[in-house]
Amino acid sequence: MMEPAHIRTYIDRLQKLSTIPGVLQRIMEITDDPGSSFEDLRNVISHDPSLAERVVRVANASCFGHSGCVGDIEQAVMFLGYEHIRDIALGMGVLQMLGVHQAKNLRGFWLHCYEVALISSMVAERITMLSTETAFLAGLLHDTGRLVFFNLAPGNCNVLYGTDDLMEREVGAFGCDHALAGSWLAEKAQLPAEHVAAIRYHHAPSQADEYHDLVSAIALSETLSRRFYPKIEDDGIWTSEHDAILLELGMSNDDVDDMRIRLGYEEYEAQRMLEAM
Ligand SMILES: [Fe+2]
Ligand SMILES: [Fe+2]
Repeated sequence: MMEPAHIRTYIDRLQKLSTIPGVLQRIMEITDDPGSSFEDLRNVISHDPSLAERVVRVANASCFGHSGCVGDIEQAVMFLGYEHIRDIALGMGVLQMLGVHQAKNLRGFWLHCYEVALISSMVAERITMLSTETAFLAGLLHDTGRLVFFNLAPGNCNVLYGTDDLMEREVGAFGCDHALAGSWLAEKAQLPAEHVAAIRYHHAPSQADEYHDLVSAIALSETLSRRFYPKIEDDGIWTSEHDAILLELGMSNDDVDDMRIRLGYEEYEAQRMLEAM
């Protein structure tokens, strides 16, 4: 069994952690600013060659089989639109942070993270003080602790399977669970404190002293993703805390069902995007 200190040392040694969030932050700002132009987005992307290459590749994969129809970043940005570019950039940023190269093994895991991000942004629409972008990013990053474990035990896909005893198994193998490991990673990456809290408490929202809205949104989305379209990678367990969050947000069964239908529309797009990544 590893010690928590081992996990912290591993995270401390990760390279690139302080630079990537800067690029992510800039892309979030541009996609969020109605006054920004395609040119602004193109500029940021073109400064990161691997991101630029991926954006063009994903745009071509979305051309309904007409490979090569998108030749440069500008066309890709026009073709994919702001929101998709943001999603690709964020997904790439996290992979780069961790230096994960086994993308194929991680597709189901990414789909889970992407679903939680989409649901989180829908939940945020109901919370006045919470921006949908903040919720989306926290949702996308909520399980990065599981990626830390996957990197520490390469090829052991068990760490990506969301069984009911996942957290106990993690503590048994790594000395801490993915929520704690993910929050250390988020701290090291200098993510905003609210994101650190959301990652830390996404399985125990009532333990958070601060950032109640964001923590609740992520915790609820984590469990809803498993309820809507269950996958082996889903790790949310429904408890009375989630009933309380639904009540607090004034969400009825019809509201929840509405989210499931909206997520269904996005699912196909997400699958296609992930295949190209
Ligand atoms: Fe989780
Ligand atoms: Fe999760």
